[in-house]
Amino acid sequence: MKVLVTGGCGYIGSHTTVELLKEGYEVVIVDNLINSKRDVLDKIKKITNKSVTFYEIDLCDKEKLRDVFLKEEISAVIHFAGLKAVGESVEIPIRYYKNNLVSTLNLLECMQEFNVKKLVFSSSATVYGNPKTLPIKEDFPLSTTNPYGTTKLMIEEILKDLYHSDPTFDITILRYFNPIGADKSGLLGEDPNGIPNNLMPYILKVATGKLPVLNIFGDDYNTVDGTGVRDYIHVLDLAVGHVLSLKNQKTGLKIYNLGTGRGTSVLELVKKFESVNNIKVNYQITKRREGDIDACYASIDKAHEELGFTPRYTIEDMCLDSYNFIKNNN
Ligand code: NAD
Ligand code: WQD
Repeated sequence: MKVLVTGGCGYIGSHTTVELLKEGYEVVIVDNLINSKRDVLDKIKKITNKSVTFYEIDLCDKEKLRDVFLKEEISAVIHFAGLKAVGESVEIPIRYYKNNLVSTLNLLECMQEFNVKKLVFSSSATVYGNPKTLPIKEDFPLSTTNPYGTTKLMIEEILKDLYHSDPTFDITILRYFNPIGADKSGLLGEDPNGIPNNLMPYILKVATGKLPVLNIFGDDYNTVDGTGVRDYIHVLDLAVGHVLSLKNQKTGLKIYNLGTGRGTSVLELVKKFESVNNIKVNYQITKRREGDIDACYASIDKAHEELGFTPRYTIEDMCLDSYNFIKNNN
């Protein structure tokens, strides 16, 4: 079975591609490398001993995307491609709406034309806004606080309308919580250019001496130690969640949270990182970051019951594997 993976050179897409290849799927990647590097393809080959077919294409270019559907016998699509930086989306919203929405609409038109009806889409816990209670279930009210999040919510709505118009579509929306960690080989992982927005990439920059100090955004939240609580999930578990979604026999439009169901505070994560890696991470408490919420963690009962999704990795594993990757790529 041949799977089209859009954004397959990126952080989550590359790990999922490895899992797909291990499970015997053929993979076609479409990526314009706007936030990734071509050498990821060699690394995927090194890990799996298998090759993928790669097209360096912008999904906003419908004709080029159509050529891929013409050439390849695609059976299913996993759609990761998109811009994902929350702060940047506030600065340049039009670019985010254009990239994330036009690329998705082009993809869906091609899928319709070529009768490819199975889709797994990368959504985000950001669509829950500031939840009133925890853990977060899939049927909680949805709202967003930034253009990035709104693109995810809009795409979810588009997918619901598409399914309503054509119930032969089989669509899975996966709402990821906070993915961290890296492949055990140390070859794949997340290493953004410049100053990272997200916590683990920032910890890694401080741990490797690239940045002097981690700013912890607030210690007056209503949490165990005052710092923000999130549901961190190992990217390898997330990758498995995608393969389970492809294999799932239940048809229709399905929505699942992918997290671990457990919350970890910023300070707990920093302390854990220090202890398992035996390294000091300089930090200071600074003011809250606008838009951040106290706590966010998933109920993963639905994914467990319907997909058989059970995360295997602990916070310790996530800290070890993230650091292992960055040491190998310094
Ligand atoms: P990433 O930036 O590492 O990967 C996205 C990939 O898409 C990149 O390789 C980029 O080059 C490619 N891309 C972007 N726009 C494209 C376009 N128009 N045409 C072709 N390729 C394009 O991001 P990631 O962390 O792997 O995230 C994957 C998906 O999961 C994204 O949709 C993201 O919004 C979503 N998501 C990520 C997180 C997270 O914390 N990492 C959390 C929730 C949801
Ligand atoms: C985690 C915690 C911060 C950086 C974001 C997106 C979300 C999803 C996942 C895509 C918070 C604190 C962070 C730092 C800190 N992505 N922090 N110092 O904000 O939960 O979620 O990524 O869909 O949509 O919003 O993740 O890693 O930025 O922050 O203290 O330098 O770490 O305040 O409590 P977040 P994050």
